[in-house]
Amino acid sequence: MGDKKIIAVVGATGAQGGGLVRAILADPEGGFAVRALTRDVNTEKASELARLGAEVVAADVDDEESLAKAFTGAHGAFCVTFFWGHFSADKEIAQVGGMARAAKRAGVKHVIWSTLEDTRKLVSLDDDRMPTLGGKYKVPHFDGKGEANQIFTDLGVPTTFLHTSFYWDNFIHFGLGPKKGPDGVLAITLPMGDKKLPGIAAEDIGACAYGVFRKGSELIGKSVGIAGGHPTGAEMAAGLTRALGQEVRYNEVSPDVYRSFGFPGADDLGNMFQYKRDFNDAYCAARSLDFSRSLNPGLLSFDQWLAKNAGQIPLG
Ligand SMILES: NC(=O)c1ccc[n+]([C@@H]2O[C@H](COP(=O)([O-])OP(=O)(O)OC[C@H]3O[C@@H](n4cnc5c(N)ncnc54)[C@H](OP(=O)(O)O)[C@@H]3O)[C@@H](O)[C@H]2O)c1
Repeated sequence: MGDKKIIAVVGATGAQGGGLVRAILADPEGGFAVRALTRDVNTEKASELARLGAEVVAADVDDEESLAKAFTGAHGAFCVTFFWGHFSADKEIAQVGGMARAAKRAGVKHVIWSTLEDTRKLVSLDDDRMPTLGGKYKVPHFDGKGEANQIFTDLGVPTTFLHTSFYWDNFIHFGLGPKKGPDGVLAITLPMGDKKLPGIAAEDIGACAYGVFRKGSELIGKSVGIAGGHPTGAEMAAGLTRALGQEVRYNEVSPDVYRSFGFPGADDLGNMFQYKRDFNDAYCAARSLDFSRSLNPGLLSFDQWLAKNAGQIPLG
């Protein structure tokens, strides 16, 4: 590893962290080395990262001591939480506390925290446009992350607050791909009206994070947002139609209907889409495409992502 700056990557076997690991290893002259954190160093995914050239170490975001050990000697740390593994914003906030204290103890010089907006700043809990969830959140998987920003600030950890976007990979892995309606025609269902939905190839999040580390201290203390495109639901349906070679419609529903779908997290996602729809200008403005491309010149647009990935989209 020599005099390279070590970046400790939480979630290294996952989408965001994995993208960062691969971006760093793809640039051997870039001056950075990877320390990949995983709960189990013996899995196939962990072994693959080691084969690619990462140092692989055991750590658990529920175990502050393991994080402090894994962060020791690192210049930077990429921190992410895993809401969909437990559906608890409270747990995310506790995990951020562990990561932030570990980074402070280890003297990490630059943390990137993969965060999202605290929607309660624009939709107070007594605002009945959307239901309050869990007694204290509007969009739990956003609000917990946004609330947790303050932990890094209060501890004086040098942090860049990286606001990510909807993964287009959700059309492959998250059950949001086109489904056949009663008429047999494929459709994507979103409660976004005619508004834009900032999105990104999940792999590009890590590549953008690498761009943040490459900028040195320039973005420490700053909030930045990234996206590869701002397509509307209709534009995504048109892109899917071209890429799949069969018609995909945009099935526009209301947030209330979306919340009623009943799958785990439908209420959280319904509120999330409503927030993105109702505060569309601010939400998009916080995710500049030019800025994202300046961090990651290889950033994919939705059509470019489709050209690479359409074959993996399950058609229900
Ligand atoms: N889907 C979207 O559109 C979207 C958009 C923006 C933000 N997000 C946010 O992205 C976050 C998830 O990031 P991701 O997609 O990169 O996750 P992911 O691909 O699901 O990765 C999960 C990885 O996290 C690791 N992990 C899970 N629990 C852990 C723990 N207790 N300690 C240490 N590592 C643990 C696992 O690694 P090991 O098994 O190797 O330990 C696993 O590889 C969520 O909080 C979500 O809200 C999602």
